[in-house]
Amino acid sequence: MKYDIELTHEQILKKQYKQLLGGKREHWEMRGKAQLDFLKSQGLREDHCLIDIGCGPIRAGEYFIQFLDTGNYIGVDYNKSFIEAAKMVAADKSLDAKRPLIEQVQDFALPEGASSAVYAIAFSVLNHCDDSQRRSFFRNVGDGLAVGAKVFVTHAGWLDGFAVPQSRLELVRRIGEADVRFFDAAWSSEDRQKLFPIAEFVVRDRASERTF
Ligand SMILES: C[S@@+](CC[C@H](N)C(=O)[O-])C[C@H]1O[C@@H](n2cnc3c(N)ncnc32)[C@H](O)[C@@H]1O
Repeated sequence: MKYDIELTHEQILKKQYKQLLGGKREHWEMRGKAQLDFLKSQGLREDHCLIDIGCGPIRAGEYFIQFLDTGNYIGVDYNKSFIEAAKMVAADKSLDAKRPLIEQVQDFALPEGASSAVYAIAFSVLNHCDDSQRRSFFRNVGDGLAVGAKVFVTHAGWLDGFAVPQSRLELVRRIGEADVRFFDAAWSSEDRQKLFPIAEFVVRDRASERTF
């Protein structure tokens, strides 16, 4: 997998992780801020709790934490060095007072606090995963969130033809490029072809048997 890599402490200090994400250093800030603008347009408020699934080195998390009330940000990722980087960024930007919860997880098993989340975003995460990881996402994210939570998954073209397992996540909408313009500035038109559709799921109280 593309993100099965471990950076050294030295590489993290030099912020070399920025070269590993699309848009690299050049678009790092804009690609972070645009995610917050997008979620605000979908109703995210300061008093909501948000879980950033596959948060990486909190490129967007930095802006989420700034915006949200204290204790309302959870960031999870399976990459140990990205989690180390994320914690370093939070400390450097004096965001620790907002008490973000940043944790390494496996197979998308969410921490207990995730049951408080009203919103979840997996931005450019599942497109980097294989089908087995995608199935874990549907099971574990569905089980880890409370009923009614909204889950946004970008780069969701792979959903076509994917055998979705039974899950509490129900697809409610596919957001297309014409519906949101927040990604125009920092993504090329070719990159936006991959970013959309953004799939919006809602957590139901029992496993959905619907196919997409
Ligand atoms: C392209 S980066 C996006 C990071 C962040 N969402 C952003 O937009 O800045 C993809 C992220 O997904 C994470 N990831 C990939 N597979 C994962 C998995 N199975 N569980 C958790 N995180 C995963 C990677 O470690 C990486 O941080």
